[in-house]
Amino acid sequence: MDANETVLIVDDEDNLRRVLSVQLSRSGFETLTAPDGIKALKILEKRPDIAVVITDLKMPGMDGVELLKNIKQLNSRLPVIILTAFGTITSAVEAVKSGAFDYMEKPFDKQALSLMVKKAVTHWRSTKLEANPVEDTSSSNVQFGMIGSSKQMMSIFRLISRISASNSTVLITGESGTGKELIADAVHSLSNRSNKPFIKVNCAAIPENLHESEFFGHEKGAFTGAANAKPGRFELANGGTILLDEVAEIPFAMQAKLLRVLQEGTFERVGGIKTYTSDVRVIASTNRNLIEEIKNGGFREDLFYRLNVLPVNLPPLRERREDIPLLINYFIRKFASGNKYVKISPVAMEKLTSYAWPGNIRELENVMERSILLLDGDTLTENDLPSEISGIEGSPWLPGTPVEEFDDFSDSGLKEVVKRETNRLEKELITKALTSTGQNVTRAAELLRISRKGLQLKMKELGLREDFD
Ligand SMILES: Nc1ncnc2c1ncn2[C@@H]1O[C@H](COP(=O)(O)OP(=O)(O)OP(=O)(O)O)[C@@H](O)[C@H]1O
Ligand SMILES: [Mg+2]
Repeated sequence: MDANETVLIVDDEDNLRRVLSVQLSRSGFETLTAPDGIKALKILEKRPDIAVVITDLKMPGMDGVELLKNIKQLNSRLPVIILTAFGTITSAVEAVKSGAFDYMEKPFDKQALSLMVKKAVTHWRSTKLEANPVEDTSSSNVQFGMIGSSKQMMSIFRLISRISASNSTVLITGESGTGKELIADAVHSLSNRSNKPFIKVNCAAIPENLHESEFFGHEKGAFTGAANAKPGRFELANGGTILLDEVAEIPFAMQAKLLRVLQEGTFERVGGIKTYTSDVRVIASTNRNLIEEIKNGGFREDLFYRLNVLPVNLPPLRERREDIPLLINYFIRKFASGNKYVKISPVAMEKLTSYAWPGNIRELENVMERSILLLDGDTLTENDLPSEISGIEGSPWLPGTPVEEFDDFSDSGLKEVVKRETNRLEKELITKALTSTGQNVTRAAELLRISRKGLQLKMKELGLREDFD
């Protein structure tokens, strides 16, 4: 009965991974392996079907207990079995107290281990059955590449599963950076159109007057510059899905033509006479309030109702703060290089969770990426955060000097200021790279993704040469 359930084995020893994998395959399990905690978490993010994790306790970087904590954040009901070497039983007991399913001492008995894994699988299945079948897909905090455990995100995850099955138009609204595009990706990839084209159109980026030909294509010679016939996005998306991103930016006159495709599924290329029929699922998204736009005369009411068949509204991050720690850990895994495990101090975590995040998840992602890049050591503290978040004035944070301070251009123009700031930034980054590699120029160059020669030249230019000779 346990055939096909997948077990993830995490151990820094190649040999142990191999032995465990062979043994569990013989007992009828599928197995996956990871050499460290960070890689294990990356696998778990992609594979919510994994039924059991077996992890060694002592590993370089993230140890078994840290891994357990992170797994519990991703999916609290996933059973984790801890392997311990002789003499580390106390930590194993601690691990069980903090939520591990059980532990087993090395060297272990094959049969006993298989039995324990079977028990864990049974446990996993029973907790799965207890959950409401509709809610079940949402019991994991990573869904379709999106992180979230807040009530709002859970209900959005459920909504996505339901709307993916339909062919109706979806309107995704929410502030900038809340994840509208990720939702659109999920809807398409979960639908039965997933192996057909998914065409994304950024309506704000289409030049004046070119909307019609962009959407519906044009025939040769339809207008000046139309040297060849060209299919439009609706034609290319046939059978699949089209995303009309920033839909509020479509000119008013064009909105009527869009309404027609939505209602009748037909259109003509600019300058053409043939009527095309297209079978396209439409997803629209906007960070504007369309009701307001309608009142101001910028958006057609009838088009709004046509688009708003299945509305999805993404709440801003500040209204779902419980997602912030999960997102932070997710971005740490994403941006920390190799198997480096970056910890975060309680104060820094507090500052990050109480900040207003006007740019939502995109802003959080950028802050994490830059903080981790510039981090000395392995613990991120409030001093590593930008001052608007840490509340600490003059914190060493890119881009450095605020633009307002460059008010005196009497002796330095744009070029000089930019050059000076670039030098300062390069100096800072190179010094950090050298420090973190123990002054090893070759490795620092790798870290900075430039050639060794290039780095040496830069160091000379910036006056860093003598320090490292
Ligand atoms: N729940 C989430 N989990 C993980 N990453 C997320 C989540 N939501 C958004 N992101 C990330 O945040 C960034 C912004 O997301 P996205 O581009 O989907 O936002 P948007 O709402 O379309 O923004 P805009 O209105 O500015 O276009 C992306 O890098 C995306 O991967
Ligand atoms: Mg977007």
